Amino acid sequence: MQDKIKDLNEKLAQAYLGGGEKRIEKQHANKKLTARERVQYVLDEGSFEEIGALVTHRTKDFGMDKQQFYGDGVVTGYGTIDGRLVYIFAQDFTVFGGSLSETHAEKICKIMDLAVKVGAPLIGLNDSGGARIQEGVRSLGGYADIFYRNVQASGVIPQLSAIMGPCAGGAVYSPAMTDFTLMVENTSYMFVTGPNVVKTVTNETVTSEELGGASTHASKSGVAHKTSTNDVECLEDVKKLLSYLPQNNQEKPKALPFELGDELREQLSNIVPDNANKPYDMHEVISGIIDEDSFYEIHKDHAENIIVGFARLGGKSIGIVANQPMFLAGVLDVNSSKKAARFVRFCDAFNIPLLTLEDVPGFLPGTDQEWNGIIVHGAKLLYAFSEATVPRITVITRKAYGGAYDVMNSKHIGSDMNFAWPSAEIAVMGAKGAAEIIFRKEIKDADDPEAKWKEKEAEYAEKFANPYSATERGFIDEVILPKDTRRKLIKAFAMLEDKHVDTPKRKHGNIPL
Ligand code: HXC
Repeated sequence: MQDKIKDLNEKLAQAYLGGGEKRIEKQHANKKLTARERVQYVLDEGSFEEIGALVTHRTKDFGMDKQQFYGDGVVTGYGTIDGRLVYIFAQDFTVFGGSLSETHAEKICKIMDLAVKVGAPLIGLNDSGGARIQEGVRSLGGYADIFYRNVQASGVIPQLSAIMGPCAGGAVYSPAMTDFTLMVENTSYMFVTGPNVVKTVTNETVTSEELGGASTHASKSGVAHKTSTNDVECLEDVKKLLSYLPQNNQEKPKALPFELGDELREQLSNIVPDNANKPYDMHEVISGIIDEDSFYEIHKDHAENIIVGFARLGGKSIGIVANQPMFLAGVLDVNSSKKAARFVRFCDAFNIPLLTLEDVPGFLPGTDQEWNGIIVHGAKLLYAFSEATVPRITVITRKAYGGAYDVMNSKHIGSDMNFAWPSAEIAVMGAKGAAEIIFRKEIKDADDPEAKWKEKEAEYAEKFANPYSATERGFIDEVILPKDTRRKLIKAFAMLEDKHVDTPKRKHGNIPL
């Protein structure tokens, strides 16, 4: 028995070394932790249980039978984060560049299946050169096995992807089908084809960083939801993000202890400027409402005219969708609609109540928007809110104009409670444009058209640049004082805690994609 135990220990020791000391040194020199170090860091101390440490690949071609590494380039298993069960895989770049073989894929699929059966989040730490080139179609099949499972698990368990090294070819599609993609700056990149192929096919010269680095995906493409400056920060982000989420779609996120006090926030009264054309930072409104320092922003640098993220309100996890008057006056456009729609659908799938903070002058006009499909993309957000059955509350802080009034979680599309600040303006359009259209003849025929226009603008503004017309019809439930907002929201979400909606039987809806 002692000999057998020794043999097992030797095998495991070899497995723990991955691709060997030299490659580990290289990984460290490249400012990256190894797969095992990442797993140890992100999980509670001593909680990791590995599955498949002694798996090896089955390829004999290209001399591969002489190159065997236990684990085959991926560390898989389960453990806990803040005491909660999670399943995890971490690709090991020191073994064949973390490339995905048939057996590597089987290991990932095994823990994905367990995660769905048990109902616990899946965390993928990606660091891979893509399909194991020596294995050909077996590797492609392995990818597809993972993609299929990503889709089956979507909306059932939270799936988080951290990109902590290269992610090329097939390696990008699994993260893209998970709920959140976090990237590390300067050491990670994602692209379908790398700079060399780009040069050959399109004759463009581009660096890996420009093509698919963290900042590119966090700002331009929106593929990355969050970035961090190093591995440790990224893993901290994974843990924090997880704290807002439930284990699965049958549960609610864990609430923190909370006792209701007066909850008055005087600072909220001084944020919206007197001049309706002046911007202000909606982050100030958010931080005035939520529990202190609890905002976890998603897609911070992408489509900044809308803010989305998780927060705690009265200890409970909520999702926030808020127009940002600081960027493009908070207008809805293609990217902001897509960004918010995806977030709303995530929250709805995982029982996270939604708070909408609204100050929106409408949809962005122009050929660029129309030709890029603002109709269909704006419809995504309308659809996403309309189908959401979680508790939904809106606060209109200032403008709620045109179609955007309907889209931004209006009463008409199923919102449960709609509040407005006294500064709210709810109308088809701004007073100036409205006066020009409906009083065109009167303005044209006037002795002083400019003065007439101003007079008519004021007339329209007086009628609609306030929350009362909508309140009289019940479209707004209550006009509230800004300083009361936090208390009102805590109470209203508590009132909605047991909300239940039965939806009609259907296979699935057909969201405009
Ligand atoms: C097998 C691979 C590999 C791969 C890297 N390695 N990628 N082995 N299959 N896909 C091995 C290298 O041979 C090397 O082995 C070790 O990993 C480290 O690689 P380096 O090139 O030395 O590292 P680095 O300079 O950091 O470059 C990393 C890299 C580069 C940018 C990822 O290795 C690379 O371009 N790899 C190929 C990427 C690619 O084209 N993948 C296929 C995509 S197609 P040694 O023994 O020297 O340490 C695809 C289709 C799927 O994925 C489609 C599904 C929908």
